[in-house]
Amino acid sequence: MSHDHEWVARATGATSARRGQRIQSLWSGYGEIVRVELTGADVETVVVKSVQPPARLRGAKKDASHARKCRSYDVETTWYRTFASRCDDSCRVPRLVGAQSATEEWLIALEDIDAAGFPERRRDPGPSGMDACLRWLAAFHARFLGVAPDGLWKNGTYWHLATRQDELAVMEDAELRAAAPLLDQKLRACTFQTLVHGDAKPANFCFARGGTAVAAVDFQYVGGGCGMSDVAYLLSDLRELVSCEPHDPSEDPAEMRWLDVYFAHLRSALDQRTERVESDALEREWRALYPIARADYHRFLAGWAKDHWRRDTRAQALTRDVLRSL
Ligand SMILES: Nc1ncnc2c1ncn2[C@@H]1O[C@H](COP(=O)(O)OP(=O)(O)O)[C@@H](O)[C@H]1O
Ligand SMILES: [Mg+2]
Repeated sequence: MSHDHEWVARATGATSARRGQRIQSLWSGYGEIVRVELTGADVETVVVKSVQPPARLRGAKKDASHARKCRSYDVETTWYRTFASRCDDSCRVPRLVGAQSATEEWLIALEDIDAAGFPERRRDPGPSGMDACLRWLAAFHARFLGVAPDGLWKNGTYWHLATRQDELAVMEDAELRAAAPLLDQKLRACTFQTLVHGDAKPANFCFARGGTAVAAVDFQYVGGGCGMSDVAYLLSDLRELVSCEPHDPSEDPAEMRWLDVYFAHLRSALDQRTERVESDALEREWRALYPIARADYHRFLAGWAKDHWRRDTRAQALTRDVLRSL
């Protein structure tokens, strides 16, 4: 057994562990996610996220993108070590089997969420899948309301402004560039703070058969924030998710109906908390921040992939409205 496999075997009580299927390689050659097969343990498989940045980037402290990624793996390790166990079935996440980190290297062994009943992946979640993703987000935001993001990103999401100064600098849209700090500040000033997942796209949800329940993975950008950042990001993809609903611009946009679905799930999740929450005030504040969160994400896209940005006329129109209202 390799050193890593010995470590996985020890962590699971297995007599042996061997490399199984590679699930995927990590972004920009940073490593891989593999399934490890076990003998003599309670479970047959675990999933290992193994991060080893390319040699040329090691120690490149001035490289903002590398620094952000390194921090993101520290955050993901902390998430699984100290927060993940607070998620119940309503916001299911993989359990941590074990984690190890050295300088610019991370190894995170997780429960195999496929084996736990979430074997499907969907690029297009469809209506029932979308409902399940929003229900997961609502339960997650309700659970971590008022919880300090100790050891996580102070401000969650992979696009938050402090870590995206390079993209801001090259943005052609001067009006949006000038408004960017104000959008960011309005979100940070939110009184009902919670934890945001930070990359809540369909690819980071694992679906139960039939797609009516989900578990979430990929906690590299989890941190403090307003729940609207996750919802705006998930719903900003909606136009591409054609099967969700045909988009008729003369009608109330589908996006707003999904926002209502989110808030209905949030209400029932908040009702289940033992501590009372002023849910009317929360919903009022978050609804008002939804367009801001939408514009904040599109501020990132405008600097990072402006062609993508130009094509999305709805996001453009929405952002113009927000800028006018500031
Ligand atoms: N615990 C797990 N069980 C099963 N599949 C997983 C697990 N963790 C991740 N995956 C699969 O691997 C993919 C990539 O993992 P993720 O943590 O999102 O890495 P990346 O940072 O490369 O996006 C996920 O989208 C999911 O399909
Ligand atoms: Mg991912």
